[in-house]
Amino acid sequence: MNVLLAGGAGYIGSHTCVELIGAGHTVVIADNYSNSCPVAIERVEEITGVSIPHYEADVCDPEAVEKIFSENEIDAVIHFAGLKAVGESCEKPVMYYRNNIDSTLTLLEVMKRHNVNRFIFSSSATVYGTPETVPLVETMPTGSPTNPYGWTKLMMEQILSDTAKANPEMSIVILRYFNPIGAHKSGRIGEDPNGIPNNLMPYITQVAAGRLPQLGVFGDDYPTHDGTGVRDYIHVVDLAKGHVKAIEYSAGHKGTEIVNLGTGTGYSVLDIVKAFERVNHIEIPYVIKPRRPGDIAECFANAEKAEKVLGWKAELGLDEMCYDAWNWQSHNVNGYK
Ligand code: NAD
Ligand code: WQD
Repeated sequence: MNVLLAGGAGYIGSHTCVELIGAGHTVVIADNYSNSCPVAIERVEEITGVSIPHYEADVCDPEAVEKIFSENEIDAVIHFAGLKAVGESCEKPVMYYRNNIDSTLTLLEVMKRHNVNRFIFSSSATVYGTPETVPLVETMPTGSPTNPYGWTKLMMEQILSDTAKANPEMSIVILRYFNPIGAHKSGRIGEDPNGIPNNLMPYITQVAAGRLPQLGVFGDDYPTHDGTGVRDYIHVVDLAKGHVKAIEYSAGHKGTEIVNLGTGTGYSVLDIVKAFERVNHIEIPYVIKPRRPGDIAECFANAEKAEKVLGWKAELGLDEMCYDAWNWQSHNVNGYK
């Protein structure tokens, strides 16, 4: 199958590219490098030994996307191309709505013209809002996301399911990711955030690398086993494999399927710090800070549907996540730069 990866140079896209090629598929990448760089694609080519057709293109731009579909026989699209920084989305909501929603609409319009009917979408556990209970099951009501980024995901889920209703030939698989961390075993690709990281694991690896002095732990008074926030961390390679399963599933599916991609296990911030220290033999200095606005106490998946519907389940544990995250960061102290 030939798969267009919109946003394929990014963190999750680059890992998915490796797994798709490993499973015998071919890929085309479209990315405007707003949060990535072409070196990531070169590294994927190095890992896989395959030359990857790629376009520097904004997928909000209908002409640029049309060109890609005219020059390549595309069977399916995976749409990773979104802006994802929660805090920035509160400061620049219009930029987030414009980029995330426009990119989805443009891809859908061009796909329709070219009779491409399979679409895999990067959604997020953030659409559940503040959960009343955990684990989160796909049938639970989607809540009120606490920020514009989350709203773009919820709106795009609506747009996609409406599109599938209107076109019975269409297969839409909405993947709700939990907290992807870690990196490819080779240490050649990994997460490379711009500026000071917002997310926990890249913050920890940058403290370990000496780029930041200490971790701030946002709150130790949550109703969790040690008072710090609990999340469902998933190895990015497992997540990438979930996309291969979703692509293969979409060949025989019509309509909209919503699937959580998580492990089903929650770990606290301090569980992560301790596991990182133990696995990598590095101390992570930290201080307790106030809660971060918008954070919830606990969020983890019920991961049964992914296994039942896609035949996928996460295989890598917390130790591998911590080891691989540090393997990437320690060999690439300044990321791809
Ligand atoms: P990322 O920023 O590393 O990757 C996104 C890629 O899309 C980047 O390479 C960026 O340059 C590109 N891009 C953005 N807008 C574009 C546009 N208009 N045209 C072309 N390219 C564009 O992020 P990621 O962590 O790999 O996330 C991928 C997707 O998964 C995003 O949609 C994100 O919202 C979603 N997601 C991520 C997480 C997470 O924690 N990483 C969790 C849930 C959902
Ligand atoms: C994890 C835990 C923090 C940083 C976000 C988005 C979500 C999804 C994944 C895209 C929390 C704590 C963090 C730090 C800390 N992204 N923390 N110190 O908030 O679960 O999810 O990324 O869709 O939409 O909201 O992930 O990694 O930021 O935080 O103590 O410096 O680590 O409070 O408990 P989060 P995170």
